[in-house]
Amino acid sequence: MTRREWLFKTVARPAVVGTGVVLGAILLDVWRAAGRFSSHHWSDLGRIDTLVGEGLLPLPAQRIALVRQEDRVAALSLECTHLGCLVNSVDEGFFCPCHGSEFGPRGEVYSGPAPRNLDWLSLRLRHGRLWVQAGTRLREPQWVVIRQDAGDSVGKA
Ligand code: FES
Repeated sequence: MTRREWLFKTVARPAVVGTGVVLGAILLDVWRAAGRFSSHHWSDLGRIDTLVGEGLLPLPAQRIALVRQEDRVAALSLECTHLGCLVNSVDEGFFCPCHGSEFGPRGEVYSGPAPRNLDWLSLRLRHGRLWVQAGTRLREPQWVVIRQDAGDSVGKA
């Protein structure tokens, strides 16, 4: 084996393979992140029977709250409409810890500096699981009708 062949086998080839693996991992991560934050990305929230109770269910990790009204549910964004801080659920609605905006139980703005109500998000029920679409910004709730006796029946009010 020549010196050149030995160098290629012990240094150059592992370096090329290692660089390829690292670049592949970075590209995969970027691709996944792009999908996660795309406006068309749907996130699985879990089984509806474990998620939907009475009233309001904040899900801060998903930056949303599920709002139940009789036999229907909708998803409310927990991102403040001022600068996007995560609002906290309080007794009478939501409070933004960043600059003090207050919102009612349906996201209606009570006091600023938030310029408008919290946004509603698209919500779907598929095979017993709730899915929310990131990036949607609706002015009105998109209600999903829950019909326990009919399985996955979905409708909009
Ligand atoms: S980010 Fe909520 S009040 Fe400023």
